[in-house]
Amino acid sequence: MKNKKYFVLFSIALLLVVISLSMILSNQICLEEKTQSGEFEDSNVIVLGFSQMGDESSWRTTHTKSVIQAAQQSGIQLIFKNAQQKQENQINAIRSFIASKVDVIAFTPIVEDGWDDVLLEAKQANIPVILSDRRIETKIPSLYAAFVGTDIELEGRLAGEFLIRKYGKKPTKIIEIAGTESSTSAKQRAKGIRQAIAGYPNFEIVFSKSGDFLRSKGAEVTREGIQLYPDADVILCHNDSMALGAVEAIEEKGLNPGKDICVVSFDGEKDAIQALKEGKLNCVVECSPLLGEAIMECASALATSEPYRPIVYQPTRVFSEYDNISEIQSWEDE
Ligand code: AHR
Repeated sequence: MKNKKYFVLFSIALLLVVISLSMILSNQICLEEKTQSGEFEDSNVIVLGFSQMGDESSWRTTHTKSVIQAAQQSGIQLIFKNAQQKQENQINAIRSFIASKVDVIAFTPIVEDGWDDVLLEAKQANIPVILSDRRIETKIPSLYAAFVGTDIELEGRLAGEFLIRKYGKKPTKIIEIAGTESSTSAKQRAKGIRQAIAGYPNFEIVFSKSGDFLRSKGAEVTREGIQLYPDADVILCHNDSMALGAVEAIEEKGLNPGKDICVVSFDGEKDAIQALKEGKLNCVVECSPLLGEAIMECASALATSEPYRPIVYQPTRVFSEYDNISEIQSWEDE
């Protein structure tokens, strides 16, 4: 009897999930079809073309959800394209937005270089561009109008400050599991960490290698790092996915993550906050992916030539073993 009741409840929940997913998908497909001709049904509605770089982490999927939800709530027509981790796909997506004559383009650049040509095309077509989460390297700053994200260099400095608080002047060996090469998040976190520990010669980054922001690669690179430096004190991962992979690699070695070796991370996804509560992570520097609302506000101002903020940073918090951990909540729970 009890089992039957659970089965019915589970079936209803599953059905609701399938219905909402198909509504979101059909909405997106329909939006893409409408743009084939370069015409939009209602010329009063703002059309935003958004190129997401992929879905490599929980952070990224939450960022995507935030953009889709905020567009629906603000009445902005969204054309969403996922580049599946390829810059080439992002460039093609931006070209298709230009051909479709959208009002505004937004994108999360997977790496910093290589955007000038396509953004010049957007500029010639008078379509303003918003960068979200990551930045670009360019000699022509007018290629984009605004940036909506977090202060990633500050995140790096905060991680370094946590290490200074924990180790002070004690000799400390760090293994760094970096993010995707040439991405803003990897470059600026690395820079911030080094800035913070610059006055402390007791800290030594003995090994640094990219784990591409992926959990599996985070585990793989950690195995390599601790094999080469078994006496390392800290595993410093550029995101939570890689830190959760590092925890697996440390446990495989028969060590206790968080105790035998300190693990520091960035993001604040639910599983990482749980690992912090279990004592397997020592510090998580938050990077909020909830950027959708600010992107829509900016897109709407740009499309209607209203004043807008060219740089919008979401605030950053530090969650660590020094806090009242039971009260910490992830943005995934918001
Ligand atoms: O650019 C933001 C970073 O990219 C996040 O820290 C990471 O999880 C994501 O993949």
